[in-house]
Amino acid sequence: LSDKMKHWYEGHKFAAKLYHHILTVSDEGREAREYLRKRGFTKEMIDHFQIGYAPNSWDFLSQFLKKRSFKMDEMAECGLVGLRESDGQPYDRFRDRIMFPIWDRRGNMIAFGGRVLNEGHPKYLNSPESEVFNKSENLYFFHQARPSIRKKNEAVLFEGYVDVISSWRAGIDNGIGGLGTALTENQAKMIRRNADKVILCYDSDEAGMNATYKNARILQNTGAEVVIASLPEGYDPDDYIQKHGPKRFLQDVISNYMTFTAFKFRYYRRGKNLQYEGDRLNYIEQMVNAVSQLPRAVERDYYLRQLADEFSLSLEALKQEQTEVIKSQQ
Ligand code: GTP
Ligand code: MN
Ligand code: MN
Ligand code: MN
Ligand code: MN
Repeated sequence: LSDKMKHWYEGHKFAAKLYHHILTVSDEGREAREYLRKRGFTKEMIDHFQIGYAPNSWDFLSQFLKKRSFKMDEMAECGLVGLRESDGQPYDRFRDRIMFPIWDRRGNMIAFGGRVLNEGHPKYLNSPESEVFNKSENLYFFHQARPSIRKKNEAVLFEGYVDVISSWRAGIDNGIGGLGTALTENQAKMIRRNADKVILCYDSDEAGMNATYKNARILQNTGAEVVIASLPEGYDPDDYIQKHGPKRFLQDVISNYMTFTAFKFRYYRRGKNLQYEGDRLNYIEQMVNAVSQLPRAVERDYYLRQLADEFSLSLEALKQEQTEVIKSQQ
């Protein structure tokens, strides 16, 4: 571990302590406290995830870092401060934002996700990519969730920080989050090394559905068993917990997951009008194709039957179609 890296970790740890202090006890943190309270964040959540608030100031953090003799070029490299072009003086990158610390898999604090209070752009300002913060090799809260992921042989993957936090409060201690980017093969392997099974629980909107489809494939390619916990349209896990409570979330969403194939039944249907023959045939073809990729005959039979029932087709015709799909792929 180089000295520079140690300084980076220390800088983040120091900043997180200050931000947490500002959020929890200071006058300046009142509005942020109120915002989090309204959103259902408890003291326990705020402490466990070391959530903080960066005050609306250009030099709050940089002054403190200077006083503690942190080197400003190092603090700029890891993205805690920016350097003014005119005179090279440091300024705070994060201002007037709720601060979510991000750790690497060993538990070093390496970055922040900063959320605006209420509306504003960008909604989340994340630390820039750097030698310490490689978004494609880290997952939110992995260092804490890992023992439980191993023990349960199962991970729950969410889209946002807030979803991980709300779910943790609901009792899910094997939950981890993406970092606002597409899931990479590295991240998938990181999960796979610790569990055989992954529950994907993304936002139920267009972006979330597409990400579910994409990421489920990436996870499946590592050999993991992937299942989908789906939410009513328009909800994300945190929305659902706030509206319906933790008990229903655990029972009706997380435990009530569907297979990836069942998800495809829903996914391929979007944007199609099954009254139209063209759309209908296209849909049936996509599903037969999906089903033909399943390794077990029992599964293939199960889904083909479902498809046959739904469209009043003969199972024989679908099996024939499947044989042709498999042939054409060889
Ligand atoms: P809340 O609105 O606070 O509940 O956040 P959310 O978790 O529901 O956020 P959303 O579903 O919009 O986004 C999921 C994740 O994508 C976030 O946790 C961030 O990591 C990332 N993200 C969202 N908005 C932005 C953005 O404006 N910029 C960047 N860089 N990342 C974002
Ligand atoms: Mn505290
Ligand atoms: Mn989203
Ligand atoms: Mn969301
Ligand atoms: Mn949300």
